[in-house]
Amino acid sequence: METIYWKLNKEIKEKEAASVIQEAASEIKKGNIIAFPTETVYGLGADATSTEAVSNIFQAKGRPSDNPLIVHISNKKQLRDLVASVSDKAEQIMDRFWPGPLTVIFPLKKDAKLSNKVTAGLDTVAIRMPDHPIALKLIEEANCPIAAPSANRSGKPSPTEAKHVKEDLDGRINGLIDGGATGVGIESTVIQMNEDHIYILRPGSITKSQLQDITPSVEFSYEKENSEKSPIHEQIPRSPGIKYKHYAPNGSLTIVKGENKQKVKQTIQSAIDEATERGEKTGILTFIESERDYDADLVLTYGSRSRIDETAHDLYAALRMFDKNKVTTIFAEACSEEGMGLAVMNRLMKASGNQVVQV
Ligand code: TXA
Ligand code: MG
Repeated sequence: METIYWKLNKEIKEKEAASVIQEAASEIKKGNIIAFPTETVYGLGADATSTEAVSNIFQAKGRPSDNPLIVHISNKKQLRDLVASVSDKAEQIMDRFWPGPLTVIFPLKKDAKLSNKVTAGLDTVAIRMPDHPIALKLIEEANCPIAAPSANRSGKPSPTEAKHVKEDLDGRINGLIDGGATGVGIESTVIQMNEDHIYILRPGSITKSQLQDITPSVEFSYEKENSEKSPIHEQIPRSPGIKYKHYAPNGSLTIVKGENKQKVKQTIQSAIDEATERGEKTGILTFIESERDYDADLVLTYGSRSRIDETAHDLYAALRMFDKNKVTTIFAEACSEEGMGLAVMNRLMKASGNQVVQV
């Protein structure tokens, strides 16, 4: 199929933007699939009420059908057709964080106006209201909830620029709205809650301490992923997506962690030198402060050590850049797990297949 490309500024200027969004929305209404920017990463959207439309998403991405999708809404009223109930705590959370990079898992309404492909047969549904003018306008114009996973081929890093979507999905999707680089750079925080706890199923830019303002008891349930099976473990909500390989670059990626920066540098540089001798094409992911200390075929940074909250912004673009340059051996310096650094390390660990060297 021929993919339609539209370009818009984030500050959507009324007239021109309105016609682009109308065109894109009419594609969605026809059951077609359209990629669009959100504040986290680009999403690949379809009418969430249409099974045929939603199936097209799974097909274009090559996504396993047991991995459910997030439903994007532009207005809290849309919840009524989708969820069985909204607790007071959920209300508080939505008031505080929506629109924004937070996905909430709700109990699914019995006769919800939703394709059951979206929820992969679960009795819960993941919902978020994105904080991006193009995304919000598109949902409004399409006049339906929009199911949208990240707009990458399954297993690839999520797209933070329109060109990443094009690389993965050109000719496989009906259209793409280019709205420039996304702000956050990694996917939304996913949470599920009960009366007493909030469980973080996927870490993101809304952090544990922000959620603790609502409820003191916030747990990371994804950490239990590899832990021993126990009765409590069975009860902890999980995200089906967590079991799949994710965010992986083509080359082998190893993370080097350690308090002693000098030791980290020496470890990385000597591993890179050995790889060069073996004839590998080498890459290093580091911080702006250390960029010049390394020698490899491609040295990229994911920001400054002193601005951990911004490191997510360039992470996926860097992983894609290693692929583009056919780098076969990559070493990355770990970042601090403070604040948003936790989510960045979570994605980096997945990208590396948990290959970590501690020095
Ligand atoms: O920032 C984001 O969340 C982006 C943008 C496009 O909104 N979307 C995104 O979607 O990252 P996706 O499909 O790549 O990730 C959705 C995650 C998966 O890990 C999936 O398993 C989980 O949400 N999920 C969806 N429905 C769920 C449910 N009912 N219960 C638990 N986890 C669910
Ligand atoms: Mg994804």
